[in-house]
Amino acid sequence: MNNRQDGKNTGQDKVYAEPLAHVDAFKFDAQVADVFENMINRSVPGYPLILDMIGVLTERFAQSDSNCYDLGCSLGASTLKIRQHMPADSHLIAVDNSAAMIDRCRANIERDHSQASTEVLQQSIQDTQIDNASLVVMNFTLQFIADQERPALLKRIADGMINGGALILSEKLVFEDEQEQRFQTDLHHDFKRYQGYSDLEVAQKRASLENVLVPNSIEQHIDRLSIAGFSEVRMIVRCLNFASFLAIR
Ligand SMILES: C[S@@+](CC[C@H](N)C(=O)[O-])C[C@H]1O[C@@H](n2cnc3c(N)ncnc32)[C@H](O)[C@@H]1O
Repeated sequence: MNNRQDGKNTGQDKVYAEPLAHVDAFKFDAQVADVFENMINRSVPGYPLILDMIGVLTERFAQSDSNCYDLGCSLGASTLKIRQHMPADSHLIAVDNSAAMIDRCRANIERDHSQASTEVLQQSIQDTQIDNASLVVMNFTLQFIADQERPALLKRIADGMINGGALILSEKLVFEDEQEQRFQTDLHHDFKRYQGYSDLEVAQKRASLENVLVPNSIEQHIDRLSIAGFSEVRMIVRCLNFASFLAIR
């Protein structure tokens, strides 16, 4: 396993390890926030590479005298990548609506050596004003927003970006072809078992995310980003049923 076990927020994820009489809808509460780093590393194949690509793309796209946004920042893993690679005279705004995540994110940023100008806001990203943005990151967040609200949110992001700015959007994928959907899902569950999750943990987590994490297809993402006003849209990373898209304004 590639998780540190020596710092804060790095406990082993046991949230679904015991049989539950009733599996509640998944929430980003304190119990999840305490183990989130371990949970996302063991659940999302390619997550460390995606974080590195956020660093690479921040160096390429974040501009002086502009704003960078991390929407749905959780503990700040992507926030720290942006912070460490953006120009010194740009400003970073990290947003999450979970108090448990925001508290831990603020603490993680305080421990970071970078001096980059950063604010961490507890609010819904539907209420976040996007302005003068050269870089917007949504790393596995859009999938938790109601499907019907996604087009308007993406348009508002595009409208708040400067020419040449970039949106990095990472999401779980769904496949229209049933056989492909089954194959990708099975392989993802194999990945989770390889990471040490039991069949019970995989099944209970899956039940908790039902209707909470609603994935779209590759085609839906590409079409919707183009309609929102991005001039170039590419899938730049894909691992099983998880992908990152780069959309340039
Ligand atoms: C999968 S996590 C994101 C992981 C993080 N970006 C990273 O790279 O480690 C999704 C986050 O989005 C937040 N979130 C979900 N819906 C939100 C909303 N409407 N407004 C703000 N944050 C939201 C959750 O609280 C959660 O912390």
